[in-house]
Amino acid sequence: AARGRGFRELAQAVCSHLYRAYPHYSWVGVYMIEGDRLKLWAWDGPQPTQHVEIPLNAGLCGWAASTGQLANVPDVRKDPRYLQCFLSCQSEIVVPIARGGKVYGEIDIDSDRLAAFGAEEETFLQEACAILAERAAADAEVQAAGAGR
Ligand code: SME
Repeated sequence: AARGRGFRELAQAVCSHLYRAYPHYSWVGVYMIEGDRLKLWAWDGPQPTQHVEIPLNAGLCGWAASTGQLANVPDVRKDPRYLQCFLSCQSEIVVPIARGGKVYGEIDIDSDRLAAFGAEEETFLQEACAILAERAAADAEVQAAGAGR
């Protein structure tokens, strides 16, 4: 569990908890906005992603970060915004970490199941992101990275 050591540690604890607790979550990451791109600050899953940096104009991740809106995509193969990562991925949810009109980053979750994410999960993940945003707004490393816009 996170022990108040800072945003990055909290983000890692959230990723690891979500990945282990929910069998239909195949990969969980936290991306943070730095300048014109997203950078991967924390993740858990069976394998690393090649997308450790994503431009804000690319992928579901870029779309959610630049619009500040949640993306819940039941079939990634049918969504033109999708940037392919894991071949086994079938659905994906991206939830902004935002507060007071400022978007700091996002939680990104891949699933190997179609339509893995329901409305109650959207709410739960938005609540988790609200806590992350509160911590991001107060965190020295986040400020030093210039994260958010
Ligand atoms: N699929 C994402 C790219 C990141 S990976 O899933 C880890 C996207 O469309 O932005």
